[in-house]
Amino acid sequence: MTTYLVTGANGGYGKAVIDYLATAVSKDSIFGLVRSEEKGKALREKGIGVRVGDYSDKDSLLAALQGIDKLLLVSGVPGNRQAEHQNVIDAAKEAGVSFIAYTSLAGADTVAKDFPLGDDHRYTEQALKESGIAFTSLRNNWYLENELPLLGPALASGKLVYGANEDNKVAWVSRDDLAEAGAKVLLADSPKEIIELSGASLTYADLAQALSQATEKAIKAEKGSNDDVVAALVEGGFPAEAAPGFASLQDAIAANFLDAQVSDLEEVLGRPQTPIVASLKVLLA
Ligand SMILES: NC(=O)c1ccc[n+]([C@@H]2O[C@H](COP(=O)([O-])OP(=O)(O)OC[C@H]3O[C@@H](n4cnc5c(N)ncnc54)[C@H](OP(=O)(O)O)[C@@H]3O)[C@@H](O)[C@H]2O)c1
Repeated sequence: MTTYLVTGANGGYGKAVIDYLATAVSKDSIFGLVRSEEKGKALREKGIGVRVGDYSDKDSLLAALQGIDKLLLVSGVPGNRQAEHQNVIDAAKEAGVSFIAYTSLAGADTVAKDFPLGDDHRYTEQALKESGIAFTSLRNNWYLENELPLLGPALASGKLVYGANEDNKVAWVSRDDLAEAGAKVLLADSPKEIIELSGASLTYADLAQALSQATEKAIKAEKGSNDDVVAALVEGGFPAEAAPGFASLQDAIAANFLDAQVSDLEEVLGRPQTPIVASLKVLLA
């Protein structure tokens, strides 16, 4: 029996990967990595195996990866990710893991090659190559979920305020679609090393139109400054101290870092991406 371990098992993505895996293989073969026994409670109740470990503690990872064949390394939180991911890869090698899938960034060495957020992903892809372990880099594009803090204010005011330019596009994908793709790659026999996972490229005007359709409310996209985005976020209840950082992602969109034109998503899923209007309905339900 092939065994699978998904890290970040309590996170939105990891949880969805595990739920998909559980539809395809025996729950006895699936393990989730969490940071404490307490955090493993919900997984255990679902019948999923729990392993405890932290990316910053290689010994804990080595213990957690014993007997695991295939690993899905969910990227951690920006800060010390290069050392953390290296710990996971080194522990996987020592534990005899035969395959690693890793959540990277769409177009990490093409459209997003100058996006600073991609530095950790480029580092990790290189570390995977150097490890000699078979791997797939799941180059995930922007979660549609990332826009949620802007959608609430848009529903209240009828204006979807954004700071990028009118012609900038983002290849949004729902996190559930990306998780299903990640699970399918983990289950596949010999997936390729680089898999680009982007949706259809849309402007904010397209997103506003989809939001109107999903909610049956009139919503228009309104180009503003990043300060206008901060104001809309705070108005919608987003923490004021975090709002400028969130709004600054508009600069990455303005630089077209998220407009990946190449995608394997449909091929991996075996179906088109979930339509944005349908995903918005689920997110806003
Ligand atoms: N493509 C995108 O648009 C996008 C957007 C947001 C994030 N991301 C990236 O994709 C990853 C998965 O997304 P998500 O939505 O599932 O994020 P999430 O809900 O924040 O989950 C992240 C998971 O990583 C775990 N984690 C963080 N640091 C860790 C460490 N040092 N050791 C062990 N586990 C650690 C967390 O554990 P705890 O439950 O203990 O906190 C959590 O379960 C994120 O971590 C981030 O790198 C991508």
